[in-house]
Amino acid sequence: MPLVTSKELLLRAKEEKFAIGAFNANNLEQVQAIIEAAEEERSPVILQASQGAIQYAGIENIVAIVKNMAERATVPVVLHLDHGTSFEQNIMCLRMGFTSLMFDGSKLPYEENVRITRKIVEIAHAVGLPVEGEIGQIPGTETHTLEEIQKMMTSPEEAARFVEETGVDSLAVAVGSLHRMREKAAYLDHDRIKKIAALTKIPLVLHGSSGVLDEEMKKGISEGLCKINVATQLNMAFTAGIKEAIAKMPDEVDPRKILKVGREKVKEVVRDRMRVFGSSGKAK
Ligand code: G3H
Ligand code: ZN
Repeated sequence: MPLVTSKELLLRAKEEKFAIGAFNANNLEQVQAIIEAAEEERSPVILQASQGAIQYAGIENIVAIVKNMAERATVPVVLHLDHGTSFEQNIMCLRMGFTSLMFDGSKLPYEENVRITRKIVEIAHAVGLPVEGEIGQIPGTETHTLEEIQKMMTSPEEAARFVEETGVDSLAVAVGSLHRMREKAAYLDHDRIKKIAALTKIPLVLHGSSGVLDEEMKKGISEGLCKINVATQLNMAFTAGIKEAIAKMPDEVDPRKILKVGREKVKEVVRDRMRVFGSSGKAK
C-alpha cells in the first residue's frame, strides 16, 4: 500500500496503549529487514532516516527504496525524518515524499525552537503531514554526570507550553534514555512521563531505546510513549551477522551471502521489538 502518515497510527497507539517502532535504516538490507519483519508480525511500522543515513545513502535513494517497498507491503509503512536539522531540510523531505517530519531544535534557545517548529508545522499541516518536535535534550553516551542528564530532561510544564505554541503532533521527550547505548541498562523517569502525557495529551516519543530495559519501556508505553526509536540495536545486529558470516565463510566473495546474514539478524531484532512494543497484529 502507499506510504501512510504517522498521525492516525500514533493516535491509535495512544488510545490502545501500544507503541509503534520507528526503526532507523542505512541501507537496502536494513530496509528489507524492517519491512519484512513488519509483514511477518502484521505490525504497522515507521521507517526513519537519520542525518547519518541521509549522508550515507542519499535522500533520493532512501525515498525511492522505502516508497517502492512500502507499496508492495501489506502493512502500513511510514517514512519519517529523524532529528531534522532545519526548516529547509524538513521542506525538502516533505517535497520528496516523506510522510512524517521531525524538527529537533532541542539544542536551540526555547523561543527559536518554537519559531522554527511552528513554521514547519504550519506548512506540513497544510498538506496533511504530521510533525514531531523535541523539548529537553537526549544526550549520547559521551560522559555526563547523572546531575547533567537530569538537568537535560524534559520539563512537563515547558512541554505543555511547547505543544500549545507549536501545534506539533508528537513530542520527543528526554525521560532517562541516552542515544547509542550498546547494553540495556537504562531506567526511565515514570513520574515525568505521566506528567508530560497528562499535560500535553499528544503521543510521546522515546529516543535512544537501545539502552532501555524492556520492562521499563513497557511501563513507559502504558504511560504515554507511543513511538519508540531504535537504531543502535539494529546496527549491532547487522554488524554481528556480517562478522559471523565472514568468520564462517572466510573465502566467500559474494557480498549477498554475507549481507543476508546481517539482514536476518536485523529482522529478528525488529520482530522482537514489535512484540515488546505491543504493535504485533495491529496492522489493519
Ligand atoms: O533517533 C533515533 C533513536 O533515538 C535511536 O537511538 O540508537 O540509542 O537506539 P538508539
Ligand atoms: Zn533520537
